Amino acid sequence: MAATTAVKPRPFAEALTRTQNLIATRVDAVLVGEDTLSDAMRYALTGGKGLRGFLVLESARLHGVDEDVALDAALAIECIHAYSLVHDDLPCMDDDDLRRGMPTVHRQWDEGLAVLAGDALQTLAFELLSDAKFGSGALGLIRMLAQAAGKDGMVSGQMLDVAAETSPEPLTLQQITRLQNRKTGCLISWSAMAGAVISGADTTPLRHYADALGLAFQIADDILDVEGDAETVGKRVRKDAEAGKATFVSLLGLDAAKARAVELCDQACAALDVYGDHGETLRDAARFVISRDS
Ligand code: IPE
Ligand code: IPE
Ligand code: MG
Ligand code: MG
Ligand code: MG
Repeated sequence: MAATTAVKPRPFAEALTRTQNLIATRVDAVLVGEDTLSDAMRYALTGGKGLRGFLVLESARLHGVDEDVALDAALAIECIHAYSLVHDDLPCMDDDDLRRGMPTVHRQWDEGLAVLAGDALQTLAFELLSDAKFGSGALGLIRMLAQAAGKDGMVSGQMLDVAAETSPEPLTLQQITRLQNRKTGCLISWSAMAGAVISGADTTPLRHYADALGLAFQIADDILDVEGDAETVGKRVRKDAEAGKATFVSLLGLDAAKARAVELCDQACAALDVYGDHGETLRDAARFVISRDS
C-alpha cells in the first residue's frame, strides 16, 4: 500500500480494466505495421495501468462526448506517456531495465530503437488528435498537449528531475512541487480536462482536480519506490535515494509524504463538487491513486 490502507474500490478496478482493454484493442487497430519500430511501439504501449486514458474517458463521459471519439484522445495521451517512460528509462536518464514487469525497450531491443520508438509514439499522439472526429475541439487538444508535454511541461519537469540529481543543495518544497507538477502533473491535467475541451465546456473544476491528483500521483510513485517490491510495482525500486532524486519523500520523510498525499486526494475530491454524484468515479480514481500498490 502506498499512502493509506484504503481498499481499492472494486467497481473502479473493473472500470480501469475496461479502459485498458479498450485502449489495447484500439492500439491493434491503429498500429498495424509488421516492422520492428511498430513492434517496439506496441510493446511500449502494453501493460500500463491506463490511468491517463481512463481520466480522458471519464472526463468525456461527464461532458457527453462519445466514447468512440474520446478513445483516440485516450490513446493519444497513453502514447505520450509511453514515450516519456521509454525515454525516462534510457541509460542517459534513469537507466532502468524493468518497466511494467517487462524488460525496458532499450533492453528488449537497443537504445537507438528506444529513442526512435519514443519519437514515433509522440508524433502518433498528435496525428490521432488531428482527426476530423474531434471537430472544433482538435486545435485546443493539440495545443494543450504540446504545452503539457513540452518545454514548459513534462520535458521541462524531466530536465529539472535530472538536474536535481547533481544539485549541491537539496531542493525546497516549492521547487519539488514545481518539478513534479511539470514532469507528472501536466499530462494528468491534460487527461482530466480533455472531455471538457472536446465539448467546449469550462475546464476549471477538472484543472483543480488534476492539479491535486497529479501531485498525489507522483508522491505515491515516490512512496512506492521506498516501500514497494519490484515484482508488484513492475519496475526497479529503492532507486530514487540512490540516484539523489528530489522527491517529497526525500524532503519530508515517508509519514509526512503520505499525509500530504491524503490531503491532496481530499482536495482533488472537493474540486469535483460541481459535478455532484457524477464525479464519484473520478473521486474513486483519486482514492485509487494514493492507495495503489503498482
Ligand atoms: C509512471 O506512471 C511514471 C510516473 C509519472 C510516475 P504510471 O504509474 O502511470 O505508469 P504505468 O503507465 O501504469 O506503467
Ligand atoms: C517519470 O518519473 C516521469 C516521466 C516519465 C515523465 P519517474 O522516473 O519517477 O518514473 P518511474 O519511477 O521511472 O516510473
Ligand atoms: Mg525519471
Ligand atoms: Mg524513472
Ligand atoms: Mg518514480
